[in-house]
Amino acid sequence: MSAVFKDAPRLVPMHDGDLAEVLAIENAIYTHPWTRGNFGDSLRAAYECWTWRLGDELIGYFVLLVAAGEAHLLNLSVAASRQRAGHGSELLKDALRLARSRGAQQLFLEVRPSNLGAKALYSRFGFRQAAVRPGYYPAHGGREDALVLTLPL
Ligand SMILES: CC(C)(COP(=O)(O)OP(=O)(O)OC[C@H]1O[C@@H](n2cnc3c(N)ncnc32)[C@H](O)[C@@H]1OP(=O)(O)O)[C@@H](O)C(=O)NCCC(=O)NCCS
Repeated sequence: MSAVFKDAPRLVPMHDGDLAEVLAIENAIYTHPWTRGNFGDSLRAAYECWTWRLGDELIGYFVLLVAAGEAHLLNLSVAASRQRAGHGSELLKDALRLARSRGAQQLFLEVRPSNLGAKALYSRFGFRQAAVRPGYYPAHGGREDALVLTLPL
C-alpha cells in the first residue's frame, strides 16, 4: 500500500465502543457538548453516525439524520488539534454524499451565530440561511439563537 493511502483518514461507522474517544473531543470543543446519551440515542435510532479515523486516531465525526427526502446534520466535529487542516470539509463532503445517496434533496443544520469558524465553512459550501430559531441554544448567562442553514443537494 502506498504512503498516500496509508496516511489518508477513513470514514468508519461509529459504535458504542467509540464513545469515550468521541466524548473526549466533544467535551473539549463545545461549551455545551452532546452527552453520551445523545450519541447513544443517535446510534440506537440508526442515524448515520460516522467517525473519521487516521489509523487508531479519532480525528472527527458526524451524525446525520435522513428522512422523507430531507437530511439534518446534527453534529459535525473535528478534534481541536486537527482543525484547519481540511478534515471538516472532507467530513462535510462525505455527509452530503451520504445524504444524496439516501435520497435527500435538501440538507439542514443549525449553527450558533457566534460560531464564526463553522459559519465560514458552511458558507464556503454554499449554505444559505433559511430561518432563525430564537433562544434555541443554551449559552453562558442565557440562551443563544440558532441559524438554520440549508443546502440543496
Ligand atoms: C467547524 C469545524 C468542524 C471545521 O473543521 P475544520 O477541520 O477546522 O475545517 P476545514 O479545515 O475543512 O476548514 C475549511 C474552511 O472553513 C473555514 N473555517 C474553518 N474553521 C475556521 C475558523 N476557526 N475560523 C475561520 N474560518 C474557519 C475556513 O474558510 C477554512 O478554510 P481555510 O482553513 O483554508 O481558511 C471545526 O472547527 C469544529 O469541529 N469546531 C467545533 C465544533 C463545531 O463548531 N462544529 C460545527 C457545529 S454547527
